[in-house]
Amino acid sequence: MNATVLGERLRSGGVENAAQEAHWMLALAKRKGGDAATADAWLEEWVRRRIAGEPFQYIVGSVEFYNIELTVGPGVLIPRPETELLVEHALEVLDGQPAGTAVLDLCTGSGAIPLAMAHERPELDYTGIDLSPEALQWAEKNFARLQPPRCRFLRGDLFAPLGQPQPRFRLITANPPYVSPIEYRQLPAVVKNYEPRMALEAQEDGLALAKRIADEARKFLVPGGWLLMEIGETQGGRMRGWLQSLGYSSVEILRDLAGRDRIAQAQKEK
Ligand SMILES: C[S@@+](CC[C@H](N)C(=O)[O-])C[C@H]1O[C@@H](n2cnc3c(N)ncnc32)[C@H](O)[C@@H]1O
Repeated sequence: MNATVLGERLRSGGVENAAQEAHWMLALAKRKGGDAATADAWLEEWVRRRIAGEPFQYIVGSVEFYNIELTVGPGVLIPRPETELLVEHALEVLDGQPAGTAVLDLCTGSGAIPLAMAHERPELDYTGIDLSPEALQWAEKNFARLQPPRCRFLRGDLFAPLGQPQPRFRLITANPPYVSPIEYRQLPAVVKNYEPRMALEAQEDGLALAKRIADEARKFLVPGGWLLMEIGETQGGRMRGWLQSLGYSSVEILRDLAGRDRIAQAQKEK
């Protein structure tokens, strides 16, 4: 199958980004090796599933994120390009920090954030936590493939697996679920029918988890340590207020290239 035929089949099946996806599918089929008939068999299956509405990344089983490739599938959120901005800022905050500096990523899902950071700064010490055993299976798969030297994944509710609070992290990152129950109902079918609800939806207008993280993080950050959280585009003002009320300094809401509030950044008192 060539790109034109593939693109046309995807387009007529209602796939919006048909030409681009056709191109990606062909490249991946080629990378899998085998002869033309084997590649065509893969492509046939992928087209069928894609037209049935399954997300592209689940079908091909991978997604590029920052400078790494992650394995993904049912049970885990597909890392989004906007989360790369969080990694970028996180790496800035870690600039000049010595080997062994401790970094925590909550709501880690596929492990995208710590694994991308570990690819750039392998000498730092990473912990990723998630409540979902299915999500963590993907994080462990990615860990096994990428083999970062200092990274571990734990299962549990936010900070719970860490036991007694101790100020030991220089940076805490999180991309928590932040879609409100009302917004959740309006998400496209390709998201709602396939990606886990617990990865997306949060109570209190989407801020329940983010607020808990900000509150509890104070006990786990070293003095002068940073908290960086991805937020929804309507949540900047409320998160700023919440972080300030908790006594954080240098509170900033960072925007993405489209000018939307995207990251809440705050520092624990030195
Ligand atoms: C938006 S996804 C982010 C996944 C990944 N960090 C990324 O950016 O692609 C949120 C993740 O939070 C996890 N989660 C939801 N509630 C949690 C809780 N109470 N404690 C820990 N993880 C939780 C979900 O299982 C999901 O993997």
